[in-house]
Amino acid sequence: MIPQWVIEKKRDGHALPPEEIRAFVSAYAAGELPDYQMSALAMAIFFRGMTAAETAALTDAMLHSGEVLDFSGWPRPTADKHSTGGIGDKISLILAPLAAAAGLAVPMISGRGLGLTGGTLDKLESIPGFNTRLDHATFRRVLAETGCVIVGQTDHLAPADRKLYALRDVTATVPSIPLITASILSKKLAEGATTLVFDVKCGRGAFMRTRPEAHALAASLLDTCRAMGRRAAALLTDMEQPLGRTVGNAVEVAEAVDVLRGRGPADMRALTLALTAKMTVLAGIHPDAAIATRELTARLDDGRAWEIFRRMVAAQGGDARVADDPQRILPQPGATLEVSALRAGHVAFVDAEKIGRVVLQLGAGRRRTDDRIDPAAGISGLVQCGEAIVRGQPLLRLHARSIAMAEALRAEAAAAVEIVDVPQQRPLLVLETIA
Ligand code: URA
Repeated sequence: MIPQWVIEKKRDGHALPPEEIRAFVSAYAAGELPDYQMSALAMAIFFRGMTAAETAALTDAMLHSGEVLDFSGWPRPTADKHSTGGIGDKISLILAPLAAAAGLAVPMISGRGLGLTGGTLDKLESIPGFNTRLDHATFRRVLAETGCVIVGQTDHLAPADRKLYALRDVTATVPSIPLITASILSKKLAEGATTLVFDVKCGRGAFMRTRPEAHALAASLLDTCRAMGRRAAALLTDMEQPLGRTVGNAVEVAEAVDVLRGRGPADMRALTLALTAKMTVLAGIHPDAAIATRELTARLDDGRAWEIFRRMVAAQGGDARVADDPQRILPQPGATLEVSALRAGHVAFVDAEKIGRVVLQLGAGRRRTDDRIDPAAGISGLVQCGEAIVRGQPLLRLHARSIAMAEALRAEAAAAVEIVDVPQQRPLLVLETIA
C-alpha cells in the first residue's frame, strides 16, 4: 500500500478497496503512517464521502485496531443503545437497568461530555465511589451478576478511533458522515453487543442540527451495522428542547432515580420506553412494541429496574444508597437560585442550546477534553413546553458554586424560556423510526 496513492484515489472521487482502507488504518494505528497523511485522507473523505462498503471497511479496520469483546454463548442476548448526545439526556442510566430487567445483557461503553452535551460517565461519577474504569474481568462479572454495566472506553478498545478523533478535531474533519459512523460504531461494536439501537438527536441542542443531517447519519449507522451483521434500528428524536427537568450531572442522576421509581417527567419515561422496547423487540425478548412497552412499563413501576440500578451502582463501587435518597448521597451545590417568571402565560419553548450554554458556564460541562467538571452544578426544576405559568413561579433552579455565579447567569437562563399567551403543545419527541 502506497499511502499517497490511496489519498490520491479518494481525492479524485474513487472508491477505495477494503484492503487499502485496512492497510492504511492499521499502519496509522501502529504509528507507521504520519498524521499528515491520515489528515489528508480524512479531508479527502470529508469532501468525497464514502460508499456504504467503504464505510463498513473503515469501521471494521478501526474496530479491529483493538480488542473486541465477545459474549457469544452467554445465556442472555446482548444489546445496547447509543445516543448522539443531547441536553438533559440521562436515558442510559434508566435504559440499561430496565433492559436488564427485561432479560437483556447490556455491556455499555459510554463517553464523557464535551461542549454542550453531557456524558453518561460524568453523570455516574457524581455518585460517590462509582468506578467507570473496570478491568476486563470485573466488567464481565458485573454484567453477569446484574445484567448491565456502564464503563468508559479503555485504551484497548478501538485505539485507532481515539487517535483519529483527536486528529479530526484539529483538522476540521469531524463533521463527515462516514468518519462519524466509523468512529461511533468502532467503539460500540467493540463492546460485543449484537443488537444496537441508536437515538439520533436532531435540533439546536444536538450534534446534528437538521433533520436531513440526522437522517443521513442514522441511515449510515444502520447500513454499516447491516453490513457488519448486527441487528439495529434508529429513532430520530427531537433535541430542540432539553429532555426532562434537569441538566447537569448529580441533578440528572437524581431525576433518573425518580424515573426508575416509576415517577419522573413524562418525556423521559416515554423516550426510555420507546428505545428500550426497540431493543427488546429486535433482540427477540418481546414479540412486538405494544407488548414490550407494557412489560417494560411494569418493570419501571414494580421497582425491578430500580433494584438492578441499585445493584449495578454497588457492583461498580458506588454508594447504592443513591437509589434510596439521591439528595443525601449526591454532591450538593454551594448555592441554588430560583429564576422566576416575570409574566403569566404558557411555556412555548425551552431552548436546549441556551440551557446547555448556561450549564456549561455553571461548570457542569467541558470546553476542552481535559477540563474538570463540577458534579453538583446544573439546572433542576426546569419547566417544559405546554405548561401554564403564573407570574413569579420558578421557571428553573440554578445549582452553582456561589450565589454570585448563579446571579450572573440569571438573565441568560431566563431568556431560554419563552412564554406566550396561548396554550401550547409539546412537539413530537420521536420524529421518525428507521429500522
Ligand atoms: N461521536 C463520536 O464518537 N465520534 C464522532 O466522530 C462524532 C461523535
